[in-house]
Amino acid sequence: MAVQNRFTYRAGELYCEDVPAERIAAEHGTPCYVYSRASLLERYADIRDAFGQWGALVCFSVKCCGNLSVLKLLAEAGSGFDVVSGGEICRALRAGADPQKIVFAGVGKTGEEIEYALREGILMLNVESRPELEAINVVATRLGARAAVAIRLNPDVDARTHAKTTTGKGGTKFGIGIRTAERLALDARSWDGVEVRGIHLHLGSPIYSAEPYESALTKALELVERLREAGCPVDTLNLGGGYCISYTGEEVTTPQQYAAALRTSLEKSACPVIIIEPGRYIAGNGAVLLTRMIYRKESEFGKRFLICDAAMNDLIRPTLYEAFHRVWPVRSAEGMPQVVRPDQSSFEGLVTERVDVVGPVCETGDYLARNRPLPRVEAGELLAVFDVGAYGFAMGSNYNARPRAAEVLVDGAECRLIRRRETCGDMIGPEEEWLI
Ligand SMILES: Cc1ncc(COP(=O)(O)O)c(C=O)c1O
Repeated sequence: MAVQNRFTYRAGELYCEDVPAERIAAEHGTPCYVYSRASLLERYADIRDAFGQWGALVCFSVKCCGNLSVLKLLAEAGSGFDVVSGGEICRALRAGADPQKIVFAGVGKTGEEIEYALREGILMLNVESRPELEAINVVATRLGARAAVAIRLNPDVDARTHAKTTTGKGGTKFGIGIRTAERLALDARSWDGVEVRGIHLHLGSPIYSAEPYESALTKALELVERLREAGCPVDTLNLGGGYCISYTGEEVTTPQQYAAALRTSLEKSACPVIIIEPGRYIAGNGAVLLTRMIYRKESEFGKRFLICDAAMNDLIRPTLYEAFHRVWPVRSAEGMPQVVRPDQSSFEGLVTERVDVVGPVCETGDYLARNRPLPRVEAGELLAVFDVGAYGFAMGSNYNARPRAAEVLVDGAECRLIRRRETCGDMIGPEEEWLI
């Protein structure tokens, strides 16, 4: 299945698949996350097929977009799930996930979460420290179970991501160094409640080249070989997530290119079970955030602000990671330029003005875009923030007592609400009953 852009301008108006964005905003209000069903499914199939020669199990990373309907769509397409909490296990199961396709990562699994995971019969727990493996062993032994675990390695490889999203370098809290991991796996051979079946890697996100994966995999395979020789039944290699997407409209490394770069190592590994945990690749380009401009503010200090009804509580990536998202008016005679880069100062043949796109939250860090060339937009008009399907709504909050946005799913010419906009009651409900 070819991967297509499902957000396009037709006759000067933004569409998601066959539905005009204006219509969605009129029906569901703003701010509103708009997902394309076709985009989600195409991306899932694309990365599954790229690693298909090894029969890889795709475990969609729930943390990037946990909406139940999105998870259900992917579960029905055959996807497994990468989870990092009991709450994410609950979401995945509620969406119809096969427990035998769920892998559980994270550095701080509680005893309760471990028990929940084991009782639900998930495929594998990815272990990040000796005390955690000991805790799993205690819980599993009590339940009369033997937990299949993978050891998450910290291979000390720099994936050249933002410092806050790099996880495979020594010094971060993630994974276990190779020598320590080897000692742990050897010791665990005699523990009744656990069986070390796999090696897990996740280096950071997004990773724009295959090279960090290759370096980490080379180190991991040396360990796999030594563990097998020592009698550990390691049959699973989990390569994690981090596969990049384009935020500018330019070409980036494709799943096929990652898979080609890893082919030799994967074939040498002779591991019958390969797992990948893409989140961003599947969901990132699959949604836009629609927001309505409330005011134009021109300051005497030479700044021009487009004050919109979406804010950092709806999309925190720009201020948290200095992440770049294209922003463009929903009505635009010429459509959006093919490529919009962070350093773009103008577009040939387009009249633009320099603006900051900001929200109503009381923080200077509340912005969606800064110093951007945009065609003139008036109060009341709609803007779209692109490529927000991953770590968009999922990282949203109620900061400033702002209800979280609505989420809708478009399928061809149809559009369905998949999460209603929160109300004031949703926000104060858990406190009302306990009011002193
Ligand atoms: C263990 C693990 N796997 C997979 C992912 C998904 O990463 P991405 O969305 O970049 O594919 C993450 C993201 O943080 C992660 O921590």
